[in-house]
Amino acid sequence: MYSGAIPVDPFDLVIFGGTGDLARRKILPALFRRFCAGQFAEGARITGAARAGMDAEGYRAFVADVLRDTADPQAGDDTMLGRFLGTVDYVAIDATGENGWAELAARMTEDRARAFFFSVRPRLFGDLAERLHQHGLASDRARIVVEKPFGHDLASARDLNATLATHFHESQIFRIDHYLGKETVQNLMAVRFGNMLFEPLWNSQYVDHIQITVAETVGVGGRGDYYDRAGAIRDMMQNHLMQLLCLIAMEPPAKFDPDAVRDEKLKVIRALDPVQPHHIVRGQYNARPEGAGGGALPGYREEVGNPRSKTESYIALRTHISNWRWAGTPFYLRTGKRLVARSSVINVMFKETPHSIFGQEAGRHANLLSIRLQPNEGITLQVTIKEPGPGGMRLIDVPLDMTFAEALGPASGRAPDAYERLIVDVLRGNQTLFMRGDEVEAAWAWIDPIIAGWTSRGEVPKPYDIGSTGPSDAEQLMTRDDRKWRGINP
Ligand SMILES: NC(=O)c1ccc[n+]([C@@H]2O[C@H](COP(=O)([O-])OP(=O)(O)OC[C@H]3O[C@@H](n4cnc5c(N)ncnc54)[C@H](OP(=O)(O)O)[C@@H]3O)[C@@H](O)[C@H]2O)c1
Repeated sequence: MYSGAIPVDPFDLVIFGGTGDLARRKILPALFRRFCAGQFAEGARITGAARAGMDAEGYRAFVADVLRDTADPQAGDDTMLGRFLGTVDYVAIDATGENGWAELAARMTEDRARAFFFSVRPRLFGDLAERLHQHGLASDRARIVVEKPFGHDLASARDLNATLATHFHESQIFRIDHYLGKETVQNLMAVRFGNMLFEPLWNSQYVDHIQITVAETVGVGGRGDYYDRAGAIRDMMQNHLMQLLCLIAMEPPAKFDPDAVRDEKLKVIRALDPVQPHHIVRGQYNARPEGAGGGALPGYREEVGNPRSKTESYIALRTHISNWRWAGTPFYLRTGKRLVARSSVINVMFKETPHSIFGQEAGRHANLLSIRLQPNEGITLQVTIKEPGPGGMRLIDVPLDMTFAEALGPASGRAPDAYERLIVDVLRGNQTLFMRGDEVEAAWAWIDPIIAGWTSRGEVPKPYDIGSTGPSDAEQLMTRDDRKWRGINP
């Protein structure tokens, strides 16, 4: 049973960029669902803010359309929708000018939690922080929620941290990595630290290697301009995959508390070895011609409108963590667009038993713990058993599978979307699932030399086919080590 519906005290939440794509697809639906779950106490107020000249009535009509489009069954309940819209307000505001700020300040209620969601282009983050301060809105009770990307390299991330720190204390800054809000990602901590079974084996003595895959079937879509400047390394590796790596590899924190967890994650990032150039593969998807299965699709360069682009839409790399727990255990990370299936999964591959009493004909077997983040969230433990029947002592690997939806059944209810959980955490002031400034900087400090190396060597990504598992060189990254990637399965 999801027991997160304890009401949050009345709050003021302002969404800068309240008419944008992220607000439409994620933030507003998440707020509506938490409202329907009874989580907002009487008096909660949600204020959209953007430059568009609109009154509160116009914004409510906009929000109603957005929610009906999400096909949320509860959006069809006019009473529920009407009550939610009763909490919604709008102020036309310009992050870079003076318009609207006095009006926004007048709408805030004293003595209650106040959160400002920066769902605008990153170059406006500094302006918003500055204006909030100027207009007396950056009080101790205020929290700011900052979307990704947080900087595009170490220097810009440092600058942004310094700008935000001018007006806000670190405890007021919530840097979003929505992967951390996913149910299964938190389950990762529950599995590791809530069971006696795994932790004693969670080290280089028993783990052969770990694979983290985040595969997408979509292309860059309408984000071509941003993506071509970022690439897979900045868009996915520096944040989502590194965060997953931290949670898989970190030492047990003394308690499940924001700084205890983030201290341990930071230690992992700081212990990462620099990545060797021959341990990285970059790829870029080709166009798919007419007549190929699935129909024609533009290639990466066409999609971003840059015929000479050297930006990667795929990256695979091997890294090591130089500490006692993980010395000698490779971590293989890969992510890409337009791949064969949408799948985010962490595979912990255990070592083979030191000696097989069953002889060579029993074959080679090893346990695997597979943690599926999406779709089909769940955990599978592959164990070796005797093949049933009279054929002698033949061994096979079978899955002990726990798909959350099946295992927990209808009683589990719908797991909240990452944004639902993260927004509630912001309103409660809980930073455990948000990145701390030093973590983000440490991640960039590890990523920057990789990008600098590509630039200095003039490297061009390898082509790969739409619907494949990525460039063939990525397979070699594994086969060279006598290993192979697990399949990318939906
Ligand atoms: N969309 C996603 O899936 C996604 C995913 C991850 C992260 N993000 C991040 O989320 C943020 C928002 O992205 P988005 O896709 O929602 O962008 P978007 O669709 O371009 O929306 C931008 C919003 O900002 C408002 N805005 C623009 N200039 C403004 C100004 N000077 N003052 C006040 N408001 C202004 C726009 O409304 P007006 O033009 O009317 O002002 C609009 O509401 C970005 O940081 C992005 O990197 C987005």
